[in-house]
Amino acid sequence: MTRNHVGTTAIVTGGSSGIGAEFARTLADRGANLVLVARREERLVALADELAEAHGVDVPTLGLDLSEDGATDGLVAFVRERGLTVDSLVNNAGFGMHGAFAQADAARIDEQVRLNVGALVSLTRAFLPEMTASGRGILVNVASTAAFQPVPSMAVYGATKAFVLSFTEAVAWETRETGLRVTALCPGATRTEFFEVVGTEEARVGDYQTPAEVVSTAMRALDARRTAPSVVSGRGNRMSAVFARIMPRSIVLPITARVMASERMPHREVAHASS
Ligand SMILES: NC(=O)c1ccc[n+]([C@@H]2O[C@H](COP(=O)([O-])OP(=O)(O)OC[C@H]3O[C@@H](n4cnc5c(N)ncnc54)[C@H](OP(=O)(O)O)[C@@H]3O)[C@@H](O)[C@H]2O)c1
Repeated sequence: MTRNHVGTTAIVTGGSSGIGAEFARTLADRGANLVLVARREERLVALADELAEAHGVDVPTLGLDLSEDGATDGLVAFVRERGLTVDSLVNNAGFGMHGAFAQADAARIDEQVRLNVGALVSLTRAFLPEMTASGRGILVNVASTAAFQPVPSMAVYGATKAFVLSFTEAVAWETRETGLRVTALCPGATRTEFFEVVGTEEARVGDYQTPAEVVSTAMRALDARRTAPSVVSGRGNRMSAVFARIMPRSIVLPITARVMASERMPHREVAHASS
């Protein structure tokens, strides 16, 4: 076990399930104190108790809807009130919607952009100065394989993840001399409870990975001597990402549209779809 986060403080957004909960477990196992944020606080408290008991770390929790106006200020205030200095940030909270954009719920679209993009940028800006000063931690922004091409039927989701990828790679470059390790994590289809609740089988491409596989890919990239500014989890997903990056859009778009079966799908929420 690598205990290279001992005594540091890491914020994990969306720690109440899936990939975020796995990041929380992994970082606590490496000795980090955590701040867990999500809406379902009872789940955060249960995880916090488990991690405090198993690893002797402090894990304050905050029940917060990060898509609401001023929510990120609430998280900053929570951290400051406790006198914490943040070494690491995992911007993981996010969701997607599936269906034709013209019929999508307008309020829910706004919420998606505010969470997947707005909160992620605000939190990165709020904590980046102390994270670079510390130089001991990590910044992980969770993107997706949906970041590599436009995604008909998940137009907003794909665009938010393309933003996360571009933004994070630029920040990785700007902070490359500071010791902070920065990467955009691009999972493909991952078995999370959100998938089960909303049913996304038609929107999924490729085999499911587990959250443990995804997080261990991220940690390997972060532990490397030189952390890559982005990392795709899963061999098949890496090949799809390369394909999407090198092929012209005129080829990639119709293939993606067919895979997503956009015309036939009713509107629904999903955690992710990849192509
Ligand atoms: N699963 C996949 O196939 C896949 C693939 C690529 C990328 N991703 C990305 O991975 C990240 C984690 O997703 P997951 O697969 O682990 O799905 P998940 O199990 O549904 O987890 C999503 C997390 O985000 C939190 N969250 C959602 N809305 C929130 C809000 N308004 N405010 C605060 N927290 C909120 C949820 O907590 P509460 O509901 O308690 O608020 C939950 O902890 C997302 O950014 C997703 O886009 C997922």
